[in-house]
Amino acid sequence: MSNIDEIKSRIDIVDLVSESGVKLRRSGRNHTGFCPFHNNTKTPAFVVWQETGTWKCFGECNDGGDIFKYVMKKEGMDFKEALRYLADKAGVKLEEYTPQQEEQRESADHLRTLLEEIALFYHQQLKTPAGAHTLAYLREKRGLTDETIEAFLLGYSPKGWDNVLKHFTERGYSVDDLMDAGMLSQNDQGRRYDRFRDRLMIPIRDVRGRMAGFGARTMDPDGIPKYLNSPQTILFDKGRMLFGLDRAKKAIRTLDQAVIVEGYMDVIAPHQAGFENVISPMGTALTEDQLRLIKRYTAGNHIVLALDPDAAGQKAILRGLDAARKSLDREGELAFDARGFLRHEARLQADLRVANLPDELDPDEIVLRNPDEWDALIKNAKPIVTHVMEVLAEGRDLDDPKVKTDIAAQVLPLIADLPNPIERETFRQQLARMLRVDERALIGGRQSSGGGRVKRRPKSRQAEVQGAPTQPRVAGVAAVNPAKKLEAYCLGILVRQPDLLFRLDRALQETGLSPLSEEDFGYTENQSLFKIVRDSIEQDALDASDYVRDAAADELAVFLENILAEADEIGSVVERVLEEMLRAIIKLRRLGLNEGLNQLRFFQEDAQERGEPLGNDYQALVMQHARALRALDEAKRRMSMRRLE
Ligand code: UTP
Ligand code: MN
Repeated sequence: MSNIDEIKSRIDIVDLVSESGVKLRRSGRNHTGFCPFHNNTKTPAFVVWQETGTWKCFGECNDGGDIFKYVMKKEGMDFKEALRYLADKAGVKLEEYTPQQEEQRESADHLRTLLEEIALFYHQQLKTPAGAHTLAYLREKRGLTDETIEAFLLGYSPKGWDNVLKHFTERGYSVDDLMDAGMLSQNDQGRRYDRFRDRLMIPIRDVRGRMAGFGARTMDPDGIPKYLNSPQTILFDKGRMLFGLDRAKKAIRTLDQAVIVEGYMDVIAPHQAGFENVISPMGTALTEDQLRLIKRYTAGNHIVLALDPDAAGQKAILRGLDAARKSLDREGELAFDARGFLRHEARLQADLRVANLPDELDPDEIVLRNPDEWDALIKNAKPIVTHVMEVLAEGRDLDDPKVKTDIAAQVLPLIADLPNPIERETFRQQLARMLRVDERALIGGRQSSGGGRVKRRPKSRQAEVQGAPTQPRVAGVAAVNPAKKLEAYCLGILVRQPDLLFRLDRALQETGLSPLSEEDFGYTENQSLFKIVRDSIEQDALDASDYVRDAAADELAVFLENILAEADEIGSVVERVLEEMLRAIIKLRRLGLNEGLNQLRFFQEDAQERGEPLGNDYQALVMQHARALRALDEAKRRMSMRRLE
């Protein structure tokens, strides 16, 4: 149970409302009283449901919610304040960051500041006689402008064993700080010395632009290794970061495409030429975490791999393929019906492409030679299956049956894995043509190896397809509330990609529905997070995702993590994601309206029992609910019409 749920379970709403000065009277299933939020002494239109911990005013306010909402409204608090207040009252300790985590956070900030200062120090060295050689190298050999050198804060680490060690301990940092930041090495005797010497220094920043480490290229032609990176530190995690992403994320989002290259210079040169969607791993194969990171910024998941044309680069593609598939291929968490499920399957694969770079040239050289050529190469990137076929066939005798068998054995499993039958068929034809074999021979081979499509379907989903109930209805609070799940699903996606809200609102309006609003969320914690999402896209100071993270820090940090877990994998095709959200919202609104109608009915029955007059708005409210329900039906109809078009 989350903290928030824990608080709700511990506080009796009847006590809470009574203590705040509202006289409540039990009547049937509920408690009623005069609404504290509007003036009225004739009809008690304020109802409290003890069981669900909710309240509603059927009178003038027509407002309602849970204990948080009540306290917010009554005491004029914001959600965080109400959370703190009620946590205190309930004796629930809010898991914020533990003191230990807090300490970690502070020491991380301290190390970031240190690294930022060191980056500046190295940068300044470029302007000294010792750094002149490196500066000339950057300008002349690598074709970088001073503007680029400034923007990436490139630098030079001087020769000598203790330049950084001395300079920064004199400025108040400890040797341990420098060690923790990954700036020192240690010999067998325990002596510590500068890790980077006589190297071109490339600052590596996290996705928010904060310093994390360095990549460093030797300036000595015989220097080994060519590139030396910071070691793993609390700030620098090679497998979870991408070089250049801090500067690339905007372009990646706008272009809905990320280009992955292999080297630092292969990122910097395209950026200089205006191709700002380029990023690279740091000397390691692409990891799933890195792809997940990219997914946060590409709604449609268009990823182009532009790896070095040498053998290592090609191998990396085949390796990279594996990770890429894992990250992109996972089924979305929610399918609302059998058709939705089928569509899930169809959403993949065309998104990963490979650019065929000309022999012997790295991306940075291509861009420097001719930016248009780079542009064309990226535009002509091929689907990964096609690329794999071509690479495997290169330089081999396609008349040799053994070669044919070998290539087919490697490519067919890839094809069999594609969710889209038309794509599967197309690629199979392509392969048959290339190998000059009859396509039926290929299909025979595939079936005997037991093409794994069906197996991948989650069991529960199959049950749903066959019409079995997905969720056993269990009495009591423990049962998963469908509204709660739907709210979390939508929020999870929006928190990951706040910009989607613009498109979602447009899609809602196109189906005749109102934009998503706080009122769509029944849980106050969800309302408050939604508000943060809305705010995030209405400001420019920060990246929207960063804004959400900042605004939902402290008491809300744990809650945010929970919500993020609800949308760990966002589907790769934005239209489908939107359609799913649309469905979820319609379902959510329907649940809300039916719940509202129920409440109205109970309210009416209880009032009749007591022989009290109904608020005169009662009938109007019922009508209003019915109208809204009809609008939802209409919207659903429009959605399916559009699909048929
Ligand atoms: P390459 O050896 O292909 O170098 O390594 P490059 O990027 O073409 O280097 P330049 O153009 O000669 O400067 C590709 C990337 O692999 C990582 C670095 O990120 C490098 O940019 N790498 C390479 C290492 O981390 N360590 C190494 O020893 C070599
Ligand atoms: Mn290179």
